[in-house]
Amino acid sequence: MASILILFGSTGGNTELVCDEVLHIFKAKNHTAVMQRAENSSPDDMGAYDLCILASSTYGQGLLQDHMRAFIKSCSSKNISGNTFAVIGLGDNKYNTEYIIESAAILEKTVKDNDGTLLSPTLRINKTPVPHLETRVKKWANEIAKQLA
Ligand SMILES: Cc1cc2nc3c(=O)[nH]c(=O)nc-3n(C[C@H](O)[C@H](O)[C@H](O)COP(=O)(O)O)c2cc1C
Repeated sequence: MASILILFGSTGGNTELVCDEVLHIFKAKNHTAVMQRAENSSPDDMGAYDLCILASSTYGQGLLQDHMRAFIKSCSSKNISGNTFAVIGLGDNKYNTEYIIESAAILEKTVKDNDGTLLSPTLRINKTPVPHLETRVKKWANEIAKQLA
């Protein structure tokens, strides 16, 4: 079974809620999973797990959530070429029609540009509360778990 770090940035709690569900579902699959706020994380934490799930909402015209943005900046000199990632992005097209869920695109690009291994698909959530959150997360987690087997 895999060890999984869910590293998230959330201002209003929506991303945290989604990550709670992700945590619950991976634990139910007998993986070891922990959830950690970006503001309490250091770049070295990512390498200590088989999979690091990066989750962030989008703010300010297509930017990462503040704490996730600072965390990603702090990783700039970190070698992640041996690490495996998956991405969760949240957004809402009522705030911005040009940069909808841009957090997902930024996190995907960060992993790829730094030669990390990116599992797919990325979980993209537009608008909250999310209808059928458990079902959606389960479906996504199943796809990711297959690749960890
Ligand atoms: C001031 C503000 C700016 C936002 N800008 C964007 C944006 O550029 N693109 C987007 O897709 N969502 C945007 N959003 C929507 C948030 O990403 C969305 O509400 C998300 O669920 C918040 O998650 P959180 O509670 O975990 O921080 C914005 C929300 C606020 C309040």
